[in-house]
Amino acid sequence: MKNISTKNFQETQKVGEEFASTLKGGEVLALYGDLGSGKTTFMQGFAKGLGITKHIISPTFIIMRTYNAGNREFVSGIRNLYHVDLYRIESEKDVDGLGLLELMNQPENIVAIEWPDKIENVLPEKRINIYFKYLGDDKREIRIG
Ligand SMILES: Nc1ncnc2c1ncn2[C@@H]1O[C@H](COP(=O)(O)OP(=O)(O)OP(=O)(O)O)[C@@H](O)[C@H]1O
Ligand SMILES: [Mg+2]
Repeated sequence: MKNISTKNFQETQKVGEEFASTLKGGEVLALYGDLGSGKTTFMQGFAKGLGITKHIISPTFIIMRTYNAGNREFVSGIRNLYHVDLYRIESEKDVDGLGLLELMNQPENIVAIEWPDKIENVLPEKRINIYFKYLGDDKREIRIG
């Protein structure tokens, strides 16, 4: 359990970037927190930390964006990042077609979910929870675990 305060978006990206280097592959990340609390910003740094050069944009309107390693690996054999945003879904049924559960806990994949509360009942118990809190204009608090 770790509480981190950030005072601008770059610091939150940095936290994400450093966190990425601690993963081995197969992790599921549940990113909890209000609108604008910094989940996607964290994921931008996280992707960079994995070795993804593409700019991460919010998957809000398409639910899931996939980032593939191509012929290389990101870090520690990680080949795919699935970045999911469930803000717009109404029930667990809305993610059936994504095959989300099949992607989880596979060593070559990382699945990172914004608004995981929407599928709380089907989320695997084995996951890393990350909590984001809005503290003021540019201030955020991030708690991992
Ligand atoms: N310390 C900070 N950490 C993260 N973001 C910050 C910080 N200070 C300001 N911001 C700004 O706050 C916004 C955070 O938006 P972001 O898309 O990351 O939130 P989110 O949690 O993903 O929201 P949503 O639930 O809508 O997807 C960005 O515009 C970012 O630049
Ligand atoms: Mg977001």
